[in-house]
Amino acid sequence: MRIVVTGGTGFIGREVVERLLETGDDEVVVTTRHPDRDPWGGRVRLVQAYAGDHVSLGKAFMGAAVVVHAIQFPNHPVEDPAKGRTYLEVDGRGTTLAAQTAKKLGVRRFVYLSGAGAGQGRPQPWFQAKDMAEAAIVATGMEHVLLRPSWIYGPRDRSMNRFVSFCRHLPVVPVIGNGRTPVYPVYVKDVARCVVESARREDATARKLDLGGPQRMTMDEVIRAIQDVLGRRRPLLHHPVGLMKLLVLPMKVMPEPMLSSSAIDFITQEVELDPRPAMDYFGFPFRPLAEGLREYLP
Ligand SMILES: NC(=O)c1ccc[n+]([C@@H]2O[C@H](COP(=O)([O-])OP(=O)(O)OC[C@H]3O[C@@H](n4cnc5c(N)ncnc54)[C@H](OP(=O)(O)O)[C@@H]3O)[C@@H](O)[C@H]2O)c1
Repeated sequence: MRIVVTGGTGFIGREVVERLLETGDDEVVVTTRHPDRDPWGGRVRLVQAYAGDHVSLGKAFMGAAVVVHAIQFPNHPVEDPAKGRTYLEVDGRGTTLAAQTAKKLGVRRFVYLSGAGAGQGRPQPWFQAKDMAEAAIVATGMEHVLLRPSWIYGPRDRSMNRFVSFCRHLPVVPVIGNGRTPVYPVYVKDVARCVVESARREDATARKLDLGGPQRMTMDEVIRAIQDVLGRRRPLLHHPVGLMKLLVLPMKVMPEPMLSSSAIDFITQEVELDPRPAMDYFGFPFRPLAEGLREYLP
């Protein structure tokens, strides 16, 4: 069958595409803003498409059985309203339009990379956008799988690997907040396997599943796990959230700031989840953090 992966060049999308190619004979279509860049050497069809543009998305979705939607705005989690890089535009309205376009073109199933904490009516813009997206997908009446991952890490991520770099190169490791924020780090290859199963399994028709690693960890425990894998212990230096929000204010003038006040809220938010229903449904154990890190850290 034909499976479209929007954002298929991204951190998660790329692993999904690779797993699709490795494990089946589906025809894979990837949407990207830059179809001249083909990391798969012609094994997928690249279609130029943009979030929020039903014409280009429609061209990509034509004839597809399944759409896997994995677009995220550049420099996430720092929003840039002037460039349309906001949760509301890309996650909320963009996903709504993608789902409606898919439905119109006869796509049977929509698999969405939502986020942990979605579906609870939380007020923050990222949750509101995911809630809008999920509701719009369900409202189309298409078969759907809404996957709600916690913190995903892997060889190409820009978030966990920042801490890996801190642990390698700095004498102390900076942590925003008190280090007790709970997270459930999940390995990108486990996520990709769930996404591919969601696209192919007959009974994956109306599901909402949290995706998280098997361990509930605090931020400090995550950093200690990285240090154990690297064999390099360094002290942690906690920065109060309020102070960090003041310190990042001048970054506003930068074209791609590393942080913003609301991005700090995003990365220090508390979300609890239960990864067991997903592990039971997909039928394999998700890797603990140390095991995932050892797979790709030299
Ligand atoms: N990473 C995590 O830890 C995590 C956790 C929970 C949920 N998620 C969800 O998983 C999904 C994918 O996240 P990710 O981390 O893989 O994202 P990512 O690597 O930052 O980006 C995914 C892709 O989005 C495409 N894109 C960006 N702006 C676009 C636009 N205006 N129009 C069309 N395409 C655009 C880019 O493709 P091109 O540059 O090729 O156009 C990019 O490769 C998101 O919905 C995110 O909320 C991620």
